[in-house]
Amino acid sequence: MFIPGAYRRLKRGPQVILPKDIGIVLAYTGVGRESRCVDAGAGSGWLAVSLARVCKEVTTYDTREDFLKIVEKNRKAEGLENLILRKGDVTKKIYEKDVDLVTLDLPNSDRAVGKAYRALREGGQIFGYLPHVEQVKKFVAKMERYGFSDIVVLEAIVRDMLVRKEGSRPSTKGVWHTGYLVFGCKKAAG
Ligand SMILES: C[S@@+](CC[C@H](N)C(=O)[O-])C[C@H]1O[C@@H](n2cnc3c(N)ncnc32)[C@H](O)[C@@H]1O
Repeated sequence: MFIPGAYRRLKRGPQVILPKDIGIVLAYTGVGRESRCVDAGAGSGWLAVSLARVCKEVTTYDTREDFLKIVEKNRKAEGLENLILRKGDVTKKIYEKDVDLVTLDLPNSDRAVGKAYRALREGGQIFGYLPHVEQVKKFVAKMERYGFSDIVVLEAIVRDMLVRKEGSRPSTKGVWHTGYLVFGCKKAAG
């Protein structure tokens, strides 16, 4: 799987969200230079850095100091002063209010949906990155309980092509399943 230079230069600790999926997050949420986002867990910061490259402000949470140190290295190397790092458990507390997007990539993301709902503005969006179908079912059930609308669940399969003199075809190698991408929108009250 091709990893662009803008990602190859980033440090990596825990499992990252790959550019093929990050591109879809940016496009489907439509975040831009006026957007304020909350991201968790920070992990290696690949999603947080990508959001901060285009958004006004991104706060990324992680429970682990050692992972936040990796994200801090990436933040500094990229010169992203709009990326704020917070040590904290998002299933317990999200301090930000009226944000445009909350992204969740945790082992138990469904447990943070309520806190995400409270942090979002009306019309704001939630994104969950979930490796297993069982997690997707729990996450969507929780989103429905909070009244999120426009729920979309998808998987991005990208096939690299071999282009050669003897013939061109999709490569037989590559990354297949990474995670399911789940999107939803916080409905206006009433
Ligand atoms: C797979 S990594 C996230 C990778 C990240 N999205 C990236 O693109 O680099 C999951 C992270 O969630 C953190 N985490 C787990 N539970 C958490 C919680 N309740 N609140 C905040 N962070 C949490 C873990 O410490 C880990 O760093």
